[in-house]
Amino acid sequence: MSVHVAWDERLARELIDERAGLEGAMLPILHALQKKFGYVDARAVAPIAKALNISRAEVFGTISFYHDFKRQPPMGGTIKLCRAEACQARGAESLAEHLEQAHGVKIDGGYSNGVSVETVYCLGNCALGPNALHDGEIFGRLDSQGLDDLYASVARKAGERA
Ligand code: FES
Repeated sequence: MSVHVAWDERLARELIDERAGLEGAMLPILHALQKKFGYVDARAVAPIAKALNISRAEVFGTISFYHDFKRQPPMGGTIKLCRAEACQARGAESLAEHLEQAHGVKIDGGYSNGVSVETVYCLGNCALGPNALHDGEIFGRLDSQGLDDLYASVARKAGERA
């Protein structure tokens, strides 16, 4: 399963610079960006053009010509994890740590495995915390196993849509 990170200017430049000296560097650069981020952000066009000493139009042209290159972040699912006081008191922070350690999730840091996990403050279900919300459904009394199951199901759905 692919793990994409949120677009990062510095990381993108590193990937570009590492490959700029290759013969026919454009495609390796675009593939590397897509592999890392799941798509090629428009912000990559100028640094690629500069690194390869070509026009921006040429870079745009190549990205548009190859339909395999996506120009938008991959569509995925979002889990909103409540980290307000009542849910914290019931273990929300250890769930957040579990997500980071077990699944490499960077909370509030974009998509990985097609899943974005975002912090929210209170879902109105405090007595049954810790809580998370996905697709309008609240998942209460979450433990790490319940969260693993939710994460896996959201990642699977995102993979089917990819
Ligand atoms: S504090 Fe989490 S639902 Fe209210």
